[in-house]
Amino acid sequence: MRSIDEITNSRRLRRMRKADWSRRLVQENKLTVDDLIWPIFLVEGENQKQPVDAMPGVERLSVDMAVEAAKQASDLGIPLLAPFANVPLEKKDTTGSHILDEDNIIHRATIAIKNAVPEIGVMTDAALDPFTSHGHDGVLRDGVIVNDETVDIIARAAALQASAGADIIAPSDMMDGRIGAIRDALDSADHEDVAIMSYATKYASAYYGPYREAIGTSGLLKGDKKTYYIDPANTDEALRETEQDILEGADMVMVKPGLPYLDICRRVKDTFQMPTFVYQVSGEYAMIEAAAANGWVDGDRVMVESLLAFKRAGCDGILSYFALRVAKDLQGQ
Ligand code: PBG
Repeated sequence: MRSIDEITNSRRLRRMRKADWSRRLVQENKLTVDDLIWPIFLVEGENQKQPVDAMPGVERLSVDMAVEAAKQASDLGIPLLAPFANVPLEKKDTTGSHILDEDNIIHRATIAIKNAVPEIGVMTDAALDPFTSHGHDGVLRDGVIVNDETVDIIARAAALQASAGADIIAPSDMMDGRIGAIRDALDSADHEDVAIMSYATKYASAYYGPYREAIGTSGLLKGDKKTYYIDPANTDEALRETEQDILEGADMVMVKPGLPYLDICRRVKDTFQMPTFVYQVSGEYAMIEAAAANGWVDGDRVMVESLLAFKRAGCDGILSYFALRVAKDLQGQ
């Protein structure tokens, strides 16, 4: 009989790594095009493709160009688009009232995309920040973001977005009680089939900088968002937030940002077994692109590796500005 020591010594973990076929055979996680959600930026006008300085390769698109992008995404098999709006200054006010305008760019883009490319899903954000003059996600009164008044507006906005054809409402604001209020508003407007992906754990993160340039809120934001987003130091609180949103009716939950918060992805997935998503945010994209542009890392490989890390951490899908590029890669284009 061989001793335990002898048996242990004969174990060779490199055996299954020796060839491409055996590595493929034992691979535990796979990234596919079905995992991708593509956030896009919208801007007024026609035939517009405006580069975003801090996000090389990302452009703000006018509605007509967004429709073209949606066709491209759909042809590549990307399941879901998430449009975000760059709203002209003159449309912004302290309560973000333009979010309730049926003719705002989110509604126009949703209608146009669903008309032209009905087979792709559209997920809209019901948060106020693109529409407020101060860049906050809520009504600002005497220096305070007023919770319940904000929730009322968000819930009405969600119903309007659903009426424009949104398939999923994804509120990114972190107000208390918004998921339940949105569910009620959707159901009473006969939108029982419209789902909710809650930004259940959204951290007060410095990684959002380039996004604010893209939607034009960076110069506007007064102060920070620490009274409503989660402290990056906390993880139990992330679970309480997620549980609350599930109890209020979230169909899917999200963690944001991504790579620095993989521990949260794993804990959320293990605790709740919900469809769990992650947002690889603008700062993460910018960091990879900047290093790649300097020749410091292989951008394509870091891109794919970072996305695979989310799968490994238990995520069912990923919002990523790389979505189109990686979909082309995966389809061999
Ligand atoms: C705000 C919102 C943010 C992002 C999307 N919606 C954060 C913020 O501006 O505070 C960030 C997305 C990204 O960085 O890619 N509701």
